[in-house]
Amino acid sequence: MVDNLPPTSKVGEIAISNLHLTPREQATVELYADLHRHASDTYALEYLLPGFRQHLLALGLIPETAIHGMRVLDAGCGGFAGGAAVAVALGAGSVTAIDLSDANIRSAAKRFAGVPNACFRVETLLDIQMPSEQFDFVYSVGVLMITEDPERAFREIVRLVKPGGRIYIGVYGRGGLFNEVAVPVMKLAGCIIPRSLMARVLRFTPWLLKPSTSLMDFMYVPIEIHYRIAEIEAWFIRACLTPTFLRHPYQPDTWWNRLLFGDGTMIFFSAVKPCQSTN
Ligand SMILES: C[S@@+](CC[C@H](N)C(=O)[O-])C[C@H]1O[C@@H](n2cnc3c(N)ncnc32)[C@H](O)[C@@H]1O
Repeated sequence: MVDNLPPTSKVGEIAISNLHLTPREQATVELYADLHRHASDTYALEYLLPGFRQHLLALGLIPETAIHGMRVLDAGCGGFAGGAAVAVALGAGSVTAIDLSDANIRSAAKRFAGVPNACFRVETLLDIQMPSEQFDFVYSVGVLMITEDPERAFREIVRLVKPGGRIYIGVYGRGGLFNEVAVPVMKLAGCIIPRSLMARVLRFTPWLLKPSTSLMDFMYVPIEIHYRIAEIEAWFIRACLTPTFLRHPYQPDTWWNRLLFGDGTMIFFSAVKPCQSTN
């Protein structure tokens, strides 16, 4: 559960600020603070890193040099700061990880104890308290579509990218049996089965508690929007960016995966911010 913290305090490299949360945001931070306690320390490197490397290659980038020495932002880092962990593994020069949940920020900071040039801040993506155009690479996976205003959050993270820098996002997709049938069933089950009971049951099947499974997310997250590829492409175009769509790295484009997952359980996009910035 979320700790009680004094308003706007600094704890080492952790900056905590007292945000006013809507009831849905409060429920979101409590959910993820609980869920991410179960995430293993190796999850980011074993699951996220190989997929991210595939995406960098698909973008024509060399993973070993793509973000080497760069300033990276992990926007909506969660309790294990997967984006920051992946960036550190690929030689980023510095990482900043932000999240709405102070419990998750504290947990992520603990996992990065001793990593130089890593800082952690409680922020809402809807109104990030940082100057514009300061990151070379912004990573935001599994976050925008659970915020109160996803496109506004998207515009905020675009604002933080330097001209010539890159943005990389992942949001829930549409289509396929999983997104159109299984997800609504999980949501319905979440309305019937209390979260505390579900958590007790799932203790016996720890693999269902992994962040990649997302079972508890789908059942209990209060805001959850699934997008078509064209809808997210429209966000990029409105922000004067040219997106590249990237299929989920573990759901390659086969008829079977299309039937099961449609566009993907998560759909990914990346773009370079033009040097002549219009934001
Ligand atoms: C599914 S987790 C994503 C974790 C991680 N990015 C990953 O790759 O798995 C979603 C995270 O988004 C955070 N979040 C939700 N709304 C937010 C907002 N408005 N601003 C910042 N973070 C937010 C939650 O607290 C949670 O830790």
